[in-house]
Amino acid sequence: MTANSVNALASASAELDGPRRQDAPGDLLAKPHPSKPHLRYFHEYEAMYKRSVAQPSQFWSALARELLSWDRDFQTTQYGTLESGTVSWFLGGELNVSYNCVDRHAIKTPDKTAIIYESDDGTINRSITYHELLREVSRLAYVLKDMGVRKGDTVAIYLPMIPEAVIALLACARIGAVHSVVFAGFSSESLRDRLLDANSKVVITADEGKRGGKTIGIKNTVDQALGSGQSTSVTGVLVYKRTGTEVPWVPGRDRWWHQEAEKWPSYIAPERMASEDPLFLLYTSGSTGKPKGIVHTVGGYLVGAAATGKYVFDLHPEDRLFCGGDVGWITGHTYVVYSPLCLGVTTVVFEGTPVFPDPSRYWEIIDKHAITHFYVAPTALRLLKRAGDDHIKYPMRNLRVLGSVGEPIAPEIWKWYHDIVGRGNCHVVDTYWQTETGSHVIAPLAGIISPKPGAATLPFFGIEPVLLDSQTGELVQGNNVEGVLAFKQPWPSMARTIWGDHKRYLDTYLNVYKGYYFTGDGARRDHEGFYWIGGRVDDVINVSGHRLSTAEIESALAEHSAVAEVAVVGISDDLTGQAVNAFVSTKGQEEQIDALTRELVLQVRRTIGPFAAPQKIFVIPDLPKTRSGKIMRRILRKIVSGEQDQLGDITTLLDPSVVGKIIDVVNKPL
Ligand code: PRX
Repeated sequence: MTANSVNALASASAELDGPRRQDAPGDLLAKPHPSKPHLRYFHEYEAMYKRSVAQPSQFWSALARELLSWDRDFQTTQYGTLESGTVSWFLGGELNVSYNCVDRHAIKTPDKTAIIYESDDGTINRSITYHELLREVSRLAYVLKDMGVRKGDTVAIYLPMIPEAVIALLACARIGAVHSVVFAGFSSESLRDRLLDANSKVVITADEGKRGGKTIGIKNTVDQALGSGQSTSVTGVLVYKRTGTEVPWVPGRDRWWHQEAEKWPSYIAPERMASEDPLFLLYTSGSTGKPKGIVHTVGGYLVGAAATGKYVFDLHPEDRLFCGGDVGWITGHTYVVYSPLCLGVTTVVFEGTPVFPDPSRYWEIIDKHAITHFYVAPTALRLLKRAGDDHIKYPMRNLRVLGSVGEPIAPEIWKWYHDIVGRGNCHVVDTYWQTETGSHVIAPLAGIISPKPGAATLPFFGIEPVLLDSQTGELVQGNNVEGVLAFKQPWPSMARTIWGDHKRYLDTYLNVYKGYYFTGDGARRDHEGFYWIGGRVDDVINVSGHRLSTAEIESALAEHSAVAEVAVVGISDDLTGQAVNAFVSTKGQEEQIDALTRELVLQVRRTIGPFAAPQKIFVIPDLPKTRSGKIMRRILRKIVSGEQDQLGDITTLLDPSVVGKIIDVVNKPL
C-alpha cells in the first residue's frame, strides 16, 4: 500500500461506510519495515481468531510456549469458567517474569538498549542496556530481600516516571513480591488507603519528582501517608535520589536506594513462580467509593502483554516503543514495561508532559530516538492538535504505528493523528481495554484490520465480545445494534480477583450477567460487525484518560463539615473528554460560596489527588431526589450540558421546584 492509498483509506474510512477489511499486505507502508510483519493478510487474522475462540487451549498453549520461557512447562492450559468465577491459565507451569523480560535478552543481546530515559526538561539522557537492566534489577531484588520482603509480600511503588520505576517493578517480580504501584499524583490519604488495603511492607519512592517544570515532593507525601491516621504495615521506605534535595529522614525506616544497591552483587537468581501466583495489584475506581485492587497473575498476564504487543502493534525486536502512559496506570504497566521488555524491544520512559517546555516535546523524542511505535491517550492528542501543527516539525521517519488508548478518539482527532502526525504513512490503532483486561481486547491489528476512525474495530484473539440488553441480560443479536459490552470466554490476561475481596470481583464482573465478563461499557456493533465503544454505563467517568469514580469524589466532598448532600456528574469536555461537575447542598445558610467552593476543590485534591478536582462546583439549595430519596443525576447532567429543555418527567421528584432553582444557579454568570 502506498502513502497515497493509505491516505485514501483513511479518508474513505472517515465515513461509516469505509472499507471493512484490509486484504492488502500489512507491510507495504511507504517506509522500511525492519523485518517481515507478523501477519500479512486479514484472512490470516480471521483464521487465527476463529481458532482462538473455537479451541482456546490449543491456541494459547502454542502462543504461551512460543512467546515465554517457562522453567517448567504447564500441563493444563485453562481451567475454570466465567460462570463458576474461577479462571486459571497454564496450570503446573512455572516461570519468572523478570527472567522473561530481562535475563533472556541480556544473555542474547546484552548491549541492546532496553530503556531510553528522557527527563522532564530533556537535560538528562540515559540509556540502559539489557545487561545493565539485569544488574540493576538484581541489586534491587537483593535490597528488597534485605528489607525483609519475601515471596508473596506486597511492595508499594510510589515513583515518578524514571527508569527506577521499571527496575522496581521487575525487582519485585524477580523475588516473587507483589507490586502495587500507586500513581504519584495520588494524595497522601489515597496512598495510605492503598498501603493499608494491600498490607504493603515496603514503599519505594524518590526524594522528589519532576513534571512539566514543576517539582513534586513525593517523599513528603509518603511521610504524610505513613505518619498520620491508622498505622500501616510498612516497615521500610527505599528512597531514590532524583533531585538531591534535603528530605526529612526516619532512621531505621528510610534507606537510600543508591547506598543500599551498591552493597549487592549484580546477579540474583529469579524466583520460580507458579503461573497463577499474583504478579501485581493495581487500584482502579469502580461504582462505589472504595478503590479496588485488581489482581493480575504471572503467566496469563505476561502472555496477554506479549501477544498483543506482537500482533496489535506488530512489534519486532528492532522496534522502539514510546508509550506516553504513566507506570501508575495499567497502560504503563503493560506497554511501558511488560509487553516491550518481554518481546526484547526498546522502551521509552518519559518523565515529563507533552507540552513542556513546548508542545513539540513528544515529536522531538520520537525523532531523536528513531521511535517506531507511539502510544498515547486522545486527551494528549486533543491538546497537541489545539497547540497547532507548526510544532510537528520533526520528520519522525521511523514511525510505523500510532496507538490510542483510554477513551474514545473522535474521528477528527483520529484523522489528525493519521494525516499530520503520521503523515498518512502509519497505521493508527485505537485500542480498547481496561485495567481488568490486562491487555488489549478490542483493537485493529496494525496493517491487518482496516481502521475506522472512532472504532475499536474487532476483537483480539480469544476475546468473544457480545452485546447484552442492559435490563434483561438477553443477547442482542445481529449487526447495527447497541448494548452493554461483555465477553463470553475467559482470556489469559484477565484479572483473577480483587485483592482481599473476591466477592466484589464476582459481583462486579461475573455475576452481573451470569456466564459473561461484564466490562461496564456500552458499545455498538456496526453493520460490518465492528465495535464502537460508547463509554461507561456505571458511575465511572473518564477525565483526561484517568478513570474516576463519581462515588469516590462524592465521599471526598461529603467529608467537608459544611456539606449536607452531594452529587457528582461527568459532562463532556472538548479537552479532557469528560469533566467533573459537583453539586452540593449545605447544612446551613452558606454565604461565602466562593470560599466554600475553593475549600471543596482543595478537599478533593487532598483526599484523592489534583487530577480528580472538580472543574465546577455548584452550591444549590437541594438536590433533585425521588420520593424514595434517590438522587436524579440524569437531571443534573442535562442541566449542566445545556439540555434544560429535555429533562423529561420531573413530576416524580419529591420537590419538582428544585429544578428551577438549580437551573438558576447553573446559569448564573460567574
Ligand atoms: O471506558 C473504557 C475506557 O477506559 C476504561 C478503562 O479504564 P482503565 O481501566 O483506566 O484503563 C485505561 C487504559 C486501558 C474502559 O472501561 N477506554 C479504554 N480504552 C478505550 C476506552 N474507551 C473508548 N475507546 C478506547 N480505545
